[in-house]
Amino acid sequence: MQLTETVKNLESFRLSNLLFLLGLLLFSCKTESDKNPTLTESIKVSVQDPHSYSNIREIHTKHLSLELEVNFDNKTLYGVARHRMSESKAKTAIFDIHGETIQKVTIGKKGTEREADFVIGKMDADSILGQPLVVTIPSGTEYINIYYQTSDRCDALEWIEAENTASGKFPYLYSQGQAILTRTWIPLQDSPSNRLTYDATLHVPKGMMALMSAENPKKKSTDGTYHFEMKLPIPSYLIALTVGDIGYRALDKRCGVYAEAPMLERAATEFQDLPQMINAAESLYGPYAWGQYDVIVQHQSFPFGGMENPMLTFINPSIVAGDRSLVSVIAHELAHSWSGNLVTNESWNDFWLNEGFTVYIEHRIMEELYGKELSNTLCEIEHFELIEELKSIASSSHPEDSRLYLSLKGRNPDDGMTSVAYVKGAYFLKTLEATVGRKKMDAFVKAYFEEYKFKTIRTELFHTFLNKNLLYPNNIEFNTDEWFYLEGLPMNSLTIKSKRLELMRSYAKRTNRGEDIFAPVKKVRWVKVKGKKKKRKETYTEQLNTKAFITQEWQTYLRSLSLSIDTAKLDQMDRYTKFSEANNELKFEWFLLNIRKENRSIRPKLKVFLIETGRRKYILPLYRALAVYPTDKEWARSVFKEAQGGYHSVSRNSISEVFK
Ligand code: BES
Ligand code: ZN
Repeated sequence: MQLTETVKNLESFRLSNLLFLLGLLLFSCKTESDKNPTLTESIKVSVQDPHSYSNIREIHTKHLSLELEVNFDNKTLYGVARHRMSESKAKTAIFDIHGETIQKVTIGKKGTEREADFVIGKMDADSILGQPLVVTIPSGTEYINIYYQTSDRCDALEWIEAENTASGKFPYLYSQGQAILTRTWIPLQDSPSNRLTYDATLHVPKGMMALMSAENPKKKSTDGTYHFEMKLPIPSYLIALTVGDIGYRALDKRCGVYAEAPMLERAATEFQDLPQMINAAESLYGPYAWGQYDVIVQHQSFPFGGMENPMLTFINPSIVAGDRSLVSVIAHELAHSWSGNLVTNESWNDFWLNEGFTVYIEHRIMEELYGKELSNTLCEIEHFELIEELKSIASSSHPEDSRLYLSLKGRNPDDGMTSVAYVKGAYFLKTLEATVGRKKMDAFVKAYFEEYKFKTIRTELFHTFLNKNLLYPNNIEFNTDEWFYLEGLPMNSLTIKSKRLELMRSYAKRTNRGEDIFAPVKKVRWVKVKGKKKKRKETYTEQLNTKAFITQEWQTYLRSLSLSIDTAKLDQMDRYTKFSEANNELKFEWFLLNIRKENRSIRPKLKVFLIETGRRKYILPLYRALAVYPTDKEWARSVFKEAQGGYHSVSRNSISEVFK
């Protein structure tokens, strides 16, 4: 049974190890399945977390020690994961694995280890969860050590050749753990319902820097060995790793940026408001708990805008736009230092408790730093995206996905990553704030973080806390159940309007009517003549300048353009506005509009964009839009073939669905 499965894992394994492992597995399988033939069948996904096989309720990892060799030639990690377990009488400890080759499992402190029996259960039908690794243990076992190697089926890790990096001298590696990919590079109990501390010793090629979601070095080590400590307990999806030709630049005592040399100074300038953002968040929600807050500008293939790995946020390089127009992504990842990292969703069904709170806090930070008008603008833009997504969810095969509390059993937790968790979640909190008043709301959110810090939270528990600490004491009735458990957006949801965006819609209307709003306009003004009383008439030309408006304003303009607009007019517009060369948000809107217009003159620039950008939020909708038209679909398929080697598995797997 599982032996065939495991043997498939062995392709890239050295022969000596292979023989040793085969012997070991034969031995393990025989003893285990002989004793208990139904063992693998009885391994069910645990009740509390439908996305983990681990038996966390019986026994769980308290501390993880990693000893790993990072091998860029084989593109593998090789070593041992040492788990210090909770006190327990359990007879088995179950871990999640996905694609790793398990060499052996031992029990006992380092140096006094003895081998343990283990079995590897079947892969789930859709290969989403991976496999359970079941280790037989005597009662009271404290240390379980799993010796392993990652394989080419490791979806978390992205290995990049030197020629495809910014500096071009060294290769590069990064991990993406959320939601259930940590199990593809570390055998562990991969559920957000458990928290663990970790340390790691890594050996990387000399001349390279290694960083983790932990206390990090600021300089390269001389021998390629690095030691890391994460002393505060975190969920497994936040364990993260990057190795590359990376440098550091401090922004203040407790925060700074890491990047490859060509990006370092630009990133430091782009993110210079970061210290102020931390101060703003602290004054709202209490002290920043993690000591250091650094950002690393990731490789262009990074599939997200940002990822809140504790102490070291990963950021997509496209956020470094040159004009600070996209820094709200930094505010978002910083906000996760409270919502998500300090107080964590118990399972992926409660994802809105991570992301809804985070968007709410992101807007509060943006308001503190740049004013209410800008935060309202962000809010309205996101509301538009939510309404669009709610329409598509309502007509999909899973209309229940528009509930805040999700039911993702049997599905990929990635399916929950929609605007519902983010924007409906944030609008729930904003509507609540408008009902109780900001003062009470702020005190409540602060108390919530204080109560649940370093714990996990589920919707039901949050509901009780909300009633007890905010609604009952203030005699407030609120339709919480409707928000949490019903589909769509409740009627009492706040509407937030930004005047700036109204103006942009009026510009779009004029364009839709055929007017060229970018054409120079002759105007007359009166100017003073030196030394004379009389003024003189002067004619001048005025032309709408793209620099006069911020990204979110142009986004709204582009989204409000009608599809009946002439294609030649779009080409003419781009010659002046250069939307096709702007930052990635605008490029994306521009390409989407032109794909829908079947304007094929954009193909050369679109192709470059699809090859150079890894962020799924942009490239997936573009491929989807192309797939609507048969000739464009064929073209898109050929671009995907060329580009996919440069995508992280998160983006690659989602896009392959489009062509299935
Ligand atoms: N934690 C998420 C990214 C994520 C979610 C990865 C679920 C895997 C599974 C991160 O904080 C995030 O929300 N990123 C957004 C940023 C945006 C909302 C400002 C993104 O990448 O688009
Ligand atoms: Zn987030």
